[in-house]
Amino acid sequence: MPAAPVRLGGGKLAVLASRVGADEKRLFDALDRRGVPFDHVDTRRQWFPAGPHDLPWTLALNREIGQFRAAYGARCLTAAGVDVVNSAEATEVCGDKWRTTQALEVAKVPTPRTALGLTPQAALDALDSIGYPALIKPLVGSWGRLVVQLTDRACAEGVLEYLAALPGPQSHLGYVQELIDKPERDIRVIVVGGEVLGAVYRTAESLRTNVALGGQTLPCEVTPDITKPALDAAAAVGAGIAGVDLIEDRDGRLLVLEVNHRVEFSGFQSALADRVDVADRIVDHLLERARR
Ligand SMILES: Nc1ncnc2c1ncn2[C@@H]1O[C@H](COP(=O)(O)OP(=O)(O)O)[C@@H](O)[C@H]1O
Ligand SMILES: [Mg+2]
Repeated sequence: MPAAPVRLGGGKLAVLASRVGADEKRLFDALDRRGVPFDHVDTRRQWFPAGPHDLPWTLALNREIGQFRAAYGARCLTAAGVDVVNSAEATEVCGDKWRTTQALEVAKVPTPRTALGLTPQAALDALDSIGYPALIKPLVGSWGRLVVQLTDRACAEGVLEYLAALPGPQSHLGYVQELIDKPERDIRVIVVGGEVLGAVYRTAESLRTNVALGGQTLPCEVTPDITKPALDAAAAVGAGIAGVDLIEDRDGRLLVLEVNHRVEFSGFQSALADRVDVADRIVDHLLERARR
């Protein structure tokens, strides 16, 4: 028998998303199972008027894949009085690697040594200070895309020359970071509502261990060494739902790389199938938010 419909204050839940992927399907199924009425708000057709207006939603789960659409969508919903998870501010901070690094530094969360060059030439100077090998990453990006290892100064000069030739002023900012001599894996932790749901190793023989690039997920035991930086990182960026990426350095110290505000959890879910249901826990968090 289906569960009785759950009331969310005066309005409904909106799930903001364009294409519905495997994770959104899981979320929709979990909402249906729990009897939570929701609208899939397709960002490809959604627009907002400026000025006061009413919307039929009290709460929104932001699963929009495009960073700018996600951030502006969250801002528009918030302005109309909708409680958005994650918040617009968290979405903006997580979506920008430099703002994330700054938030982690302020909260004293261990993270690799990082610098931002305001021009490609300045990034080269910053790299002289960081040392080689190093990495360059796009300010806005995911799935490991355009994360490039810089083995030495000659390599960096070449990559930065390409950077300078890219269109778009944002591409000319150089987010550069020390390369951590990590084992052939990183650690992905999912945090929901201030709780760690679990952790997986993502293993790959190459530099980038992203699942999108073929990284394999394996269960990872959650120890206090993992819990603390993961919870601190999620709190530092203000994310109620967070996918925290960590790497281990040579001494086994854990460093936070980034916090994903729209966490993809298919790999995580299959590695921890018998331990946690991520979609269900996200629904719990939404219901908890609705009760506030
Ligand atoms: N400083 C680093 N040292 C070693 N490996 C890194 C470093 N930064 C990133 N990586 C590897 O590259 C992957 C992608 O980097 P990340 O910062 O998470 O960007 P993205 O948003 O594209 O996932 C990480 O999961 C990790 O395996
Ligand atoms: Mg990542």
